Parts: sequence; structure tokens; C-alpha cells
Amino acid sequence: MVGDGRSYLIVGNWKMHRTVSETVEALLELTQRWKGAEGVKVVICPPFTAILIAAKTVAGSEIRLGAQNLHWAPEGAFTGEVSPVMLQELAVDYVIVGHSERRILFQEDGPAVAKKFAAALENGLLPILCVGENGAEREAGRQGQIVEEQIREVLTPLKEPGKFAIAYEPVWAIGTGKTAEPEDVQRMHGHIRTILGKCGVAAGQVPILYGGSVNASNSASLLSQRDVDGALVGGASLRNDEFLAIAGQAAQLAGRKI
Ligand code: PGA
Repeated sequence: MVGDGRSYLIVGNWKMHRTVSETVEALLELTQRWKGAEGVKVVICPPFTAILIAAKTVAGSEIRLGAQNLHWAPEGAFTGEVSPVMLQELAVDYVIVGHSERRILFQEDGPAVAKKFAAALENGLLPILCVGENGAEREAGRQGQIVEEQIREVLTPLKEPGKFAIAYEPVWAIGTGKTAEPEDVQRMHGHIRTILGKCGVAAGQVPILYGGSVNASNSASLLSQRDVDGALVGGASLRNDEFLAIAGQAAQLAGRKI
């Protein structure tokens, strides 16, 4: 829970989907249908190639933008990479850091994730740090330890981290249709708040999102858990009806005292 009443951050991670024209089409509809709601922020993370047109399309609307990745250097000889300074110029407010697809498919290790997280903060972007165990780690009962290591390696080098969010995304639940049980999610989110406290962070100020096969059928039970402050939505964010239904459920739950 962040603040007095409930507030939510609902983030759509489009991954490597949608061209420029598909982005405009999807965002025009979203901006027309999402008029904002007290206590709910809606963020879309398009691919890099579509961010500029996305920024123009959502200007003046209630939709905010995020990037799916960044490099830590402001500029340099890093072929194929995108810097935080470049993102800032595009009116991007958020950036996903350490998504499991980057960690696993592109060999991003803990020190790289930590550098990206720090670079995002230095450049005024709000990083959404993804953490979570894989299936074998869960079976071994190591999920709490894995998540603690992933958070500590990012926060330890920083004196005062500033504003950031965490997304708990168990790897076995991403894109698989398997969602963690709401009670398990709550337990892990409570654990994450404890870790943040131990790292000297005002844990109540950090939104903790859940991600992994979130859809309109399971989002209400996940979002109503005490320490779930939002969702990082992959597949379901590619269907406007479903994504808006999730945001609408957040709007119904927002503002309630718990
Ligand atoms: P999914 O992806 O909703 O398709 O499981 C979530 C994510 O990878 O952030």
C-alpha cells in the first residue's frame, strides 16, 4: 500500500510488438477510452521505434509512457543501444529494468541491471525493477532469497535511490497463463517491503507491482491484495478491451482505505 488510500500503477509492456502505425491505432483508441481515474496511473511501454510517435499520440491524455530497456551510459560506442538521455528527450517517464527476458535471453547480469537502474534515476526516469524466481528456484523454496538478492544488488550501491517501483514477476508465470496465487503474491510483496526497509528505503513509498499472466479475469483478486500496488501486464496489454478492463478494476479499488 502506498499512501493513505489505495493507488495503482497499471503498466502495459508491449514487448517486441506493434509497428509505428499499429502503435498509433492502439494508442488513439486507448486515449479516447481512458479518461483517467483518481488513484490510477496507466503507463504504456512501446518498442523504442514507436516511442516518438507514441509520445505525440498520448500528449495531453491520461496515458504515460515507459521504455522497456535502456543502456547506462549517456552516449558512446554501444552499437544498437539506447541511452537514458535519449529516452528523456522523448517524454518517457518510466523504464523497465531487469525484465527476466533481458536477464535470461540477453544475459543481463545483476551488475548490468544495477548500472541501468542507477542511470535511470540519475536521468530523471522512474525505473520499474523486475525481480522474480524461476520454476526450479520456487520448487526449492528459494524465491524469497532470490528476490532479496536481486533487490539488494541494485540498491546497495546507491546512497539515496529516489523514486522507483518494483515488479514481482515470477519467471514461471510470464507468458505461460500460470498466475501465482494471490495469497502467495501478497506474501512475497510483504517480504519485498521488509527487504526495502532493511535497505533503508521508505518501503511504503515504493509501488510494488505484480506481473505474470495478468488478465482481466485474475486482476481484481491480485490487485485487492494489501501490498499489490499495480500490475505489469504483457500479453493482455496488447488487447485494449482487456487492458482497459484491468485499469477499470484498479479504478474501482483505488482510494479504498485498508
Ligand atoms: P505476461 O508478461 O503478462 O504476458 O505474462 C508480463 C511481463 O513479461 O511483464
